[in-house]
Amino acid sequence: MVGPIADQLVCVTGAGGFIGSWLVKELLRRGYAVRGTARDPEDRKNSHLHALDGAEERLSLYHADVLDYTSLRRAFSLCDGVFHVASPVSNDPDLVPVAIEGTKNVINAAADMGVQRVVFTSSYGAVNMNPGRNPDTTVDESCWSDLEFCKQTKVHYYYISRANLA
Ligand SMILES: NC(=O)c1ccc[n+]([C@@H]2O[C@H](COP(=O)([O-])OP(=O)(O)OC[C@H]3O[C@@H](n4cnc5c(N)ncnc54)[C@H](OP(=O)(O)O)[C@@H]3O)[C@@H](O)[C@H]2O)c1
Repeated sequence: MVGPIADQLVCVTGAGGFIGSWLVKELLRRGYAVRGTARDPEDRKNSHLHALDGAEERLSLYHADVLDYTSLRRAFSLCDGVFHVASPVSNDPDLVPVAIEGTKNVINAAADMGVQRVVFTSSYGAVNMNPGRNPDTTVDESCWSDLEFCKQTKVHYYYISRANLA
């Protein structure tokens, strides 16, 4: 452990997913108390989380769906920070509204519950889809994907990444 973070409770949405699992592992290693969310915490696809170092003492799993505001409020109660990672990772256009509504719900529920800091996991897709930019340009925080271009080219996964930051 790198030094305990006394009394800090943080929530990781989508804790059992690829990025979420690594995040939970690193937060436990750094001494945080971690509350992970999953739509079904009992599902065996989340069982690896219980085997992480520190999990027995400092990890709890809560049910939450990003479309269920009440479940988010419950999961964020008393948390100092929220890492929002849960998202339908898909190029299915039907899931675009779910991803965007879900992110709004998470931000609003965190604010409602007095969470001090929210960290949102985005993707390269939020910045790279812009036909008007020279592909040799180094992208930075001033670069954004063009939503219309993402839509025209049906790259809905990148559309979600960009729209969530609008
Ligand atoms: N993997 C990468 O290399 C990469 C790179 C850049 C950015 N990202 C971004 O990181 C985020 C997570 O990606 P990932 O690769 O970790 O995906 P993943 O393994 O598919 O995990 C996504 C998680 O989201 C949860 N989820 C999906 N729909 C949900 C809903 N309606 N309510 C609550 N939870 C829901 C799933 O949990 P349950 O099904 O258990 O509920 C799952 O644990 C995404 O925003 C992605 O764009 C990933």
